Amino acid sequence: MFATVLLLLVALCAQGGHGEEKREEAQRPGHVTVVIVGGTGDLAKKYLWRGFFELYVNKVKGGNTFSFYGGGLSPADKGKPALFEILKALSCSKDVSQERCALLKEQFLRLTQYRELKTLENYQKLAKDIEQDLKQEGMTEAGRLFYLSVPAFAYADIADKINSSCRPTSGAWLRVVLEKPFGHDFRSAQVLASQLGGSLKDEEMYRIDHYLGKQVVAKILPFRKENKKFLDPIWNKHHIERVEIVLKETLDAKGRIAFYDQYGVIRDVLQNHLTEVMTLLSMKLPKNLSNSEEVLNNKLQIFRSLLPVGKKQAVVGQYQAYKTEVQQELNKTKDHVSITPTFAAVLAYIDDAQYEGIPILMISGKMLDERVGYARIVFKNDIFCVQNHNSVHCKPKQIVFYFGHGSLQYPAVLVSKNLFKPVLKDAEWKEVTEHKDVNVLGLPISDYYVHTPKEQREAYSELISHIFAGRKNSFISTENLLASWGLWTPLLSSLATSFPRIYPGGAENGDLLDICVKGKEISYNSEVVIISNDQMGGTSAKGFQVMQGKFRGTDMVSAWSEELVNRLAEDLQEAAEAAVRENGVFHLALSGGSSPLALFHRLALHHFSFPWRETHVWMVDERCVPPSEAESNFNTLHDHLLQHVRIPYYNIHPMPVQLNQRLCVEEDRGALLYENEIRALVNGSSFHFVLLGVGYDSHTASLFPGSKWDEHGEKLVVMTESPAKPHQRMSLTFSAINQARRVAVLVMGKGKHELVTQLSRVKDNSDKWPVTGVKPASGTLVWYIDYDALLG
Ligand code: BG6
Repeated sequence: MFATVLLLLVALCAQGGHGEEKREEAQRPGHVTVVIVGGTGDLAKKYLWRGFFELYVNKVKGGNTFSFYGGGLSPADKGKPALFEILKALSCSKDVSQERCALLKEQFLRLTQYRELKTLENYQKLAKDIEQDLKQEGMTEAGRLFYLSVPAFAYADIADKINSSCRPTSGAWLRVVLEKPFGHDFRSAQVLASQLGGSLKDEEMYRIDHYLGKQVVAKILPFRKENKKFLDPIWNKHHIERVEIVLKETLDAKGRIAFYDQYGVIRDVLQNHLTEVMTLLSMKLPKNLSNSEEVLNNKLQIFRSLLPVGKKQAVVGQYQAYKTEVQQELNKTKDHVSITPTFAAVLAYIDDAQYEGIPILMISGKMLDERVGYARIVFKNDIFCVQNHNSVHCKPKQIVFYFGHGSLQYPAVLVSKNLFKPVLKDAEWKEVTEHKDVNVLGLPISDYYVHTPKEQREAYSELISHIFAGRKNSFISTENLLASWGLWTPLLSSLATSFPRIYPGGAENGDLLDICVKGKEISYNSEVVIISNDQMGGTSAKGFQVMQGKFRGTDMVSAWSEELVNRLAEDLQEAAEAAVRENGVFHLALSGGSSPLALFHRLALHHFSFPWRETHVWMVDERCVPPSEAESNFNTLHDHLLQHVRIPYYNIHPMPVQLNQRLCVEEDRGALLYENEIRALVNGSSFHFVLLGVGYDSHTASLFPGSKWDEHGEKLVVMTESPAKPHQRMSLTFSAINQARRVAVLVMGKGKHELVTQLSRVKDNSDKWPVTGVKPASGTLVWYIDYDALLG
């Protein structure tokens, strides 16, 4: 069968294909195997097969041959007909003749098979068959593409199976495509990234954000580049009044509540789609737009200059019917309340000379009055029109990247005529000069220069062609993913107990969700009673109080995360003031990781009287990476705390992991240097306050399970090995930690519930569960555990 198909391919090649991409990337010739795992699921049915068929149609003459597999958990007798139903419905774009389309479709169907992909044996068999076919046909292999269209919990296992049994022959590429969610917060994203990192190289992973495949979103950087001469003078804080990135939907979350209720709109849309658009608008313009490394790096820089987003920079809402939908889909009783937001508006700021002070609003919601998505840059207009308000120079000046739907109904880039006449060099775009009479964001369409793609393409099809071309700049790198969670996680924790404003849905929302930006804060514009008693339901007021208790025989403070962090910040300030009163100085040692971020923000944004001048900040542990890297604990500490408070530079004591321009080399004796500094400055080497976290494997500081910690003797600082990358660490020892006057262990998030349960049961054994080795000799230990971690 294979041979016949190949012959037909040759015939078609001679004929030539339409819809061929202009910018052809270098593609290794040979055979490409595409496997859609979850090939009969919803996404595959709606977009993926269509995208791969389009790819096939466009690339069939390009020197590659293909075979396609739809993988599923069902046995072949069920899966095969389901897949066939999907493939039967495929169609070609307008520019392919009916005859050619029919021929190509027939071929595509013949090249596509269903596979049960459940066990390792299934994957091994698949690999064997691929290899056999290659051999039989005497083909060289170009690559294998696995599209994982399955729930995220299955990723690590499938990636492991692919790694162990389905890697292509040498010289051919492997590309594994993943769909969000990539974790639900910084830590879980990190855990998932490190699990995947065990099976796949970074360059083999393609994390999809389908917004990056939307034609208008993909046009942002080229537009900025092509119109550089107009934009350079105005793309800054002196000219931009505000930026709005908006995705409004009319749909509800029905049918996917089991997922949605765990995530909510911030995780579902803001953390990914809207954040990506924000970075494209604000990143430094890459010199070469097709240089993935440069594009991804410039994106990363923006994350580094974003200011932390505090609780007062967000408002949340929930459509009224959501509560009942949750009760029904999750089988909950009538008094069950979910506070998952279905609407959110968030205000962000970039802390750099170009954009400082420009409000960036990111807004999204379900059950709103219309379906529309856009990014709008509103410019300041300093002209005051005395008489003729319709003169072009009196009108608002704005650039709108209109993703689609809404009043315009098609994707477009719009520039108000009183700004400049834009240039769009791409032959696949055209200027629209004939308009129907519509208004777009306050201006009649005739007040804009309008450009639109000549042919509208599906985001997934676009991205599938990029995966095939190996263009990584349209995908999310691990670094960027973690950076994005680094921005959103503290806000999500601070909102974890906020009650959303309830809105009726659709046009009835009226002005209920209008927001007002005042200084650096945002609020709803109108006052309403946000919650009724009935909405408080099961989440009784008790849940909001701080609870004192015992954990592992010592004091524990527990509350919802926000309250807990507030309380810890207060306790910390109290300890600082007491130390300063007694000794004139406060020695504080801080841990890395994401748990303390919310605390840092609280301290930076609310504790203006904290005695920073008298405080010395030390580090509990550090990774062996340069301090300029996002993975560096010092970098996080700097970005989230130190740069926002008035602490003298000479009171800051980063761990010396980089000495003599190299990282953690033993003969540089960084650990000893740090130890000597502690001994010299900290009275009796006894810190006033040590803040610790605890990892999923119960490590604390950088003291990981499986080492003999008592062998460190009196040492205060040592080098250690982490099981996760970067492996090399510098850490305070138990001896240093246990000399402290006060130690706080902060544990937050549902993900830690199992760990907390386990820790509540086990005996002290610092080699196995390092955190159990924290036992201050004469100081106090307090556990700060939030309700999510405590109660699950
Ligand atoms: C998805 C979200 O990623 O994006 C959905 O999970 C949302 O909740 C969708 O509806 C919006 O995408 P689009 O392309 O319809 O704007």
